[in-house]
Amino acid sequence: MSSIRNNISSIFPFERYIPEEFRLRQQVNQKEYLVNGELRLWDGPVQEVLSPVCVRSSSDVSQKVIGSYPLMTESEALQVLDAAASAYNHGRGHWPSMSVYDRIVHIEELIRRMPAMKKDIVRLMMWEIGKSRRESEREFDRTVVYAKNSMAALRGMDCASSKFIAEQGIIGRIGRAPLGVVLCMGPFNFPLYETFTTLIPALLMGNTVIFKPPKLGVLLHGPMLGAFHSVFPPGVVNTVFGEGKQVITPLISSGRIDVLAFIGSGRVADLLKSMHPKPHRLRSVLGLEAKNPAIVLPGADLDLAVKECVAGSLSYNGQRCTALKIVFVHSRIAGRFLDKFSDEIGKLRIGMPWEKDVTITPLPEPRKTEFLTELVEDAVRHGARIINARGGRVNRTFFYPALLYPVSTGARIYEEEQFGPVVPVVPFDDIEDPVSYITESSYGQQVSIFGNDAGMIASLADVLVNQVCRVNINSMCQRGPDIFPFAGRKDSGEGTLSVSDALRLFSIRTIVAARDSGANKAIFSEIMKDRK
Ligand code: G3H
Repeated sequence: MSSIRNNISSIFPFERYIPEEFRLRQQVNQKEYLVNGELRLWDGPVQEVLSPVCVRSSSDVSQKVIGSYPLMTESEALQVLDAAASAYNHGRGHWPSMSVYDRIVHIEELIRRMPAMKKDIVRLMMWEIGKSRRESEREFDRTVVYAKNSMAALRGMDCASSKFIAEQGIIGRIGRAPLGVVLCMGPFNFPLYETFTTLIPALLMGNTVIFKPPKLGVLLHGPMLGAFHSVFPPGVVNTVFGEGKQVITPLISSGRIDVLAFIGSGRVADLLKSMHPKPHRLRSVLGLEAKNPAIVLPGADLDLAVKECVAGSLSYNGQRCTALKIVFVHSRIAGRFLDKFSDEIGKLRIGMPWEKDVTITPLPEPRKTEFLTELVEDAVRHGARIINARGGRVNRTFFYPALLYPVSTGARIYEEEQFGPVVPVVPFDDIEDPVSYITESSYGQQVSIFGNDAGMIASLADVLVNQVCRVNINSMCQRGPDIFPFAGRKDSGEGTLSVSDALRLFSIRTIVAARDSGANKAIFSEIMKDRK
C-alpha cells in the first residue's frame, strides 16, 4: 500500500531514467502542412505542445514541452479547401474518376509504408496523449488492419455492383459514387485509428479529404504527411492545423464541405453543422458522447463481472467513448462486487506510458484532474464514499482511479460523462431502475449485462436493443471487432461505422438504367466488353 502511495507522489521520472528508446531527444516541431500535393513550410505562429508526462528536475516537476504545430489561419484553410475541391472537380477529377482497383493500389502503398513509421508514431502517442505503449501499439496495428479490411470489403462490394439487374422491363447497373470533399476530424483518445476509420473509406470511395488532427495528438500524424504526399495525387489528401475557429469555421461556412466526419463532443458537432449554409447538403458521420452502463444481476459470476468492468471502465484511464461509465449492481451482491473491484484496482500498474504492463497513466486534457476531482467531491456531497484506497488521489496530470458508492441520482457523475478513471456504482433492487436510467438517458451507445439467467438476460436485451446499439452479455462494452457495426442512438452519434458500413456512408447509390430492349442490351454489352 505504502509503495503505491509513494509511487503516486513520485510517479514522474527524471529525464535521465527514461529508457533511451522512449526518450524524445529533441522537440518535434511540425512545420509542414500538406496542400495540393505540396508540403508547404509554415513560418507563422505555432501552438506549443505539452505532454501529459511531467519530468522531474532537481528543482521542480513539470509537463514536458515536446514540440509545436502551426496555427494556420482562414487564408491557408481556404487554400486547402480549393485544393481538395479542385482535385474532386465536381466528381470529374482524376481521383474520383479512377477505378476502384487503382484507388486500392494507392491505399495499399500507403499501408505498405506504415510499419516503418510505427516506432515514431507509437512514441509520439505515448508522449502526446499518455497512452500506454501496449495500447498505442494496439491502436497502430488495429489501424493498419482496418485499412486492409476496408480494401477487402470494397473489392467484394465492387464485384457485387458490376452485375446488371433486369426488373420490370428495365435493366440497370447499380453502383456507388463518391460524395465530394470530406472533412475528417478524429478525437484525441484514438487519434490515429479513429481518424483513419473515416479517412480511409472516404478515400477508397473516391472523395478528396481535408484532415485536421485533434487538439491533442497532433504531432503523431507528422510521420504520415510524407507518405500522404508521395502516395496520392495532388489535392486528394490535405491537412489543416490550428484552432477550430480559425480553420474549421471558414471551411464549413463556405458550404463546400460535403461530408463532416467528426468524432468528439455533441456541442461541437452541432455548432459545426449549424455553420453550413445548406445543412441538408452536409452528410454527417458523427461519433459523440456516451454513458455506457453495466448492469450486474444477482446471479452474475462476480469474478468475471469485475474483470470485465475494470477493463471496461479503466482501460486507457477510462478515456474510451465505449468505456463503462456507470455500473448498476444489485444491492444483494454490491458489497462483494465492491470488495473485488477495489482489490482489482489495487493490482493495476500505474506509471509512465512506456512502463511494462502499465494501465493507469497521466491524463492529457488540460485541467482534467481538477474536473474529475470536482465530480468525486460532488458525488461525496451526494452521499457516495470513495471505496478504494487512494481513490481520487492526484499528482499534477495523474489521477488515481476512484470507485464511488453508492452514487445517487442527484450527483453530477450520475449523468455527466467523466471520460476518465472514476467509476460510479449505483445499487438497485428493481431492474426497472437501470432500465429507466437507460431509457431516459440522453445517450444510446451500448450496455453490458452481467448475469446467468438466460430468460432474464433475453428479456432485458429485448428491451435494451431499442435503447442502445449494442447489448454486451457478460462482456465489457467495446467498438471492436471492426467488422461489427458501431453506432449510437440519441446524442451518441450519427451513422454506422464498420469496415463495410463506412464505405456506404462515404458514398451514394447511383444507377445507370435503360429500357430492356435489344438495342440497349447491345450498348451495355459493348460498354462492358471494352470496360468503358
Ligand atoms: O473511443 C472509442 C474507440 O473507438 C473505442 O474502441 O471500444 O474497441 O476500444 P474500443
